Amino acid sequence: MSHLIAPSLLSADFLNLERDIRMVNDSQADWFHVDVMDGHFVPNISFGFSIISQIKSIATKPLDVHLMISDPDRYVADFKKSGADNLTVHYETCIHLHRSIYSIKEHGMKAGVVINPHTPVENLRDIVAHVDLVLLMSVNPGFGGQKFIEGTYNRISRLKDLLIQLNSQAVIEVDGGVDTTNAARLVEAGADVLVAGSAVFNTPNPAETIKKLKLLS
Ligand code: DX5
Ligand code: ZN
Repeated sequence: MSHLIAPSLLSADFLNLERDIRMVNDSQADWFHVDVMDGHFVPNISFGFSIISQIKSIATKPLDVHLMISDPDRYVADFKKSGADNLTVHYETCIHLHRSIYSIKEHGMKAGVVINPHTPVENLRDIVAHVDLVLLMSVNPGFGGQKFIEGTYNRISRLKDLLIQLNSQAVIEVDGGVDTTNAARLVEAGADVLVAGSAVFNTPNPAETIKKLKLLS
């Protein structure tokens, strides 16, 4: 499959959120990336259920919801109700990760696991056969506009090898500092989904940037 583009609404203009959502609807993007932060697991707070429901009411593409929150199990049903299509939880927040993944699936969503830049890819060995996606953070989670961590290419390759070895169909998503200068190399390394926030919304023509990230030319 050709790689997917998931613009992160964290960098959208919240005073013109409807305009930005419609821009993504009409663009070559594939998913909406929706970052939920609790001020506990990460040192920032973003938005919650009512905003996500409103995004869902006009979005014509799947909502890829990235939970940067402690104890995500408590809210799985609420995120389903708000319109999440993919729900991704941090490995670092889930004591019973296998249970969390199955809870997400039982609620009818695609289940993802995400790891911070310092968490070894190999720690996912016993969960990759059970997830629909693996999200690799290429910055420390919590903020948009941070510098891409170069070691990510190697982590993608190692994850790709692990998925092949264990016969996992999970897609590999990369999040943080992705832009038109590193996108091609990320896809070459094995990324299936590129999340991009500031690289899309902080450019004069976001739809054009999405197109560049999609076509890689
Ligand atoms: C960071 C979030 C990202 C963020 C990416 O914690 O998970 O999704 O929006 O923003 P950029 O693309 O600007 O690094
Ligand atoms: Zn994210």
